[in-house]
Amino acid sequence: MDKGCENINTDLAQLSDLLHNSKYAVVLTGAGMSTESGVPDFRSKEGWWNKINPATVASTSALEHNYDLFRDFYQYRIKALSQCKPNTGHKILAEWEAKGLIKCVITQNVDGFHKAAGSKNVYELHGSINSIRCDSCGKETDVQNFMDNADCPVCKGKLRPGVVLFGESLPEDAWSKAIEEIRKADLIIVIGSSLTVSPVNHLPFITKGKKVLINLDNTDLDSEFDLIIHGKAADTLNKLNGIMKTD
Ligand code: OAD
Repeated sequence: MDKGCENINTDLAQLSDLLHNSKYAVVLTGAGMSTESGVPDFRSKEGWWNKINPATVASTSALEHNYDLFRDFYQYRIKALSQCKPNTGHKILAEWEAKGLIKCVITQNVDGFHKAAGSKNVYELHGSINSIRCDSCGKETDVQNFMDNADCPVCKGKLRPGVVLFGESLPEDAWSKAIEEIRKADLIIVIGSSLTVSPVNHLPFITKGKKVLINLDNTDLDSEFDLIIHGKAADTLNKLNGIMKTD
């Protein structure tokens, strides 16, 4: 066994112990959770924000002044997402919740994959790309209307996905619930986030419990964690699940 392999096995064994011994474990996920489903993240080499400036497509200003491009961007993402599905990692987290090993998943992802995989306690801090509403009157409508370039059937306002745009606040309910859960937690496992976007990147540090990060690349906050596992989310969770079952 090479040294790298030995290290990762020790780290996984440590995380398995932490999970078994915790009474209130919570998980916080970012875009890296879904790349193994084929959904691009934002800041990796192939990520969205290396191809396109978020201000031009994912901001309140884009919605107001550049609606055609805004709509093209989200239509493209909704269509691409319909070809993807939750991966093993999402499913393992759902199984862990059902077994009582974790209490909830707090996510920055808008793809809905945690719920689709069967997780019940999910707090979507950046909203959901598949819930379409009118930006003027707030009335929810079918995704297909947005895909067909329709206006709001009620007031003719602009349709938009229920995601948090740059320049908007996070949904209050999900945010306050996430804070409540993390305050109660004795273990937080962050998976697949660059931890560059505020306010979510502050969340791991309000726990009094242990902090673990599973991420492919280094982040600027690595030194704040008790344990870091550099690896792919689904692959790492799958290996960890194997260890947990034999423990
Ligand atoms: P980022 O794209 O900023 O970071 C994704 C992180 O996941 C990177 O550090 C990658 O190294 C890592 N990663 C990629 N694939 C992985 C894999 N298979 N396993 C483990 N790690 C992997 O995404 P977020 O941190 O989620 O907001 O970005 C936060 C927010 O920025 C997003 O929710 C989005 C974006 O602007 C809005 O659109 C409001």
